Amino acid sequence: MMSKQVRTAIFPVAGLGTRFLPATKATPKELLPVLDTPLIQYAIDEARDAGIERMVFVSHPSKSAIERHVMDDAALRAELKARGKPAIAAVLEENAFCHTSDDVSFVMQHEPLGLGHAVLCAKDAVLPGAVAVLLPDDLILEQNCLKEMVAAYAEGAGHMVASMQVPLEDTAKYGVLAVTGRSGRLLQADGMVEKPKPQQAPSRHAVVGRYILDPIVFDRLENQTPGAGGEIQLTDAIASDAKNCGLSGFSFSGRRFDCGSKAGMLRATLHLAAQDPECADVLRDFEAASPPSFAA
Ligand code: UTP
Repeated sequence: MMSKQVRTAIFPVAGLGTRFLPATKATPKELLPVLDTPLIQYAIDEARDAGIERMVFVSHPSKSAIERHVMDDAALRAELKARGKPAIAAVLEENAFCHTSDDVSFVMQHEPLGLGHAVLCAKDAVLPGAVAVLLPDDLILEQNCLKEMVAAYAEGAGHMVASMQVPLEDTAKYGVLAVTGRSGRLLQADGMVEKPKPQQAPSRHAVVGRYILDPIVFDRLENQTPGAGGEIQLTDAIASDAKNCGLSGFSFSGRRFDCGSKAGMLRATLHLAAQDPECADVLRDFEAASPPSFAA
């Protein structure tokens, strides 16, 4: 049976998305599509399927397009139906949140002061108990990572972070766990370091963007001073409680794509295109062409 301990998911979506400029000048990074679906929608679908009851989006006033995507647009659906496109209208209705229900909430982070600060902004909007945090630019396909984590999360387990092994030379791109033991898919850890150089990395177990956090994290974040990059780091708040509240890494079984980078976005797109009947031919033509070309 699905655990009801994790009822809220927080989606931090207020960042500047500088690595994707100029694409993200007017379009939020979280709305960039992998094929025809925006990154944020994959994360919402994952959270819904994991049994989450309330979704809290930490956004920025300049990124109102996210709210337009997430919330229902009855006028658009009516227009689509009138134009003989009921199937896509039904998809939009299924994906969207209804304006009158309390299963969704938007809070604003007026300045992008860091991921930890973004999570703190959600404090008053969450339901009691541990909270999930999903970073939409970490796209995890094939298995529902949050669902696996919720199933593995035990009451009073402290903080749990999704984790995967990375090459030593890549540790500076991630938060990295100080691992003390392992049992099955759970790694016990007594600390976590943000973006360590390879020679300072406590392990090769990197943290990716799925977290289940004990609510004590909000107290820690309230008193958190800026860390790496001058930002209020979620990693520091989690690490500060690792010893007294507990910290584990979870080896998830899905496939993760770093859609915060161009290369990761391209990999994710090619991965899904290969499974899409409309796109698979294009990929085959591309592979067969010499020199490669996408010309029609
Ligand atoms: P990233 O660091 O990947 O996103 O944060 P970014 O800062 O927008 O992108 P770059 O590095 O400049 O290209 C991961 C997630 O956390 C959110 C981002 O929107 C993204 O979804 N975030 C980050 C916030 O909500 N607030 C922040 O202060 C920082």
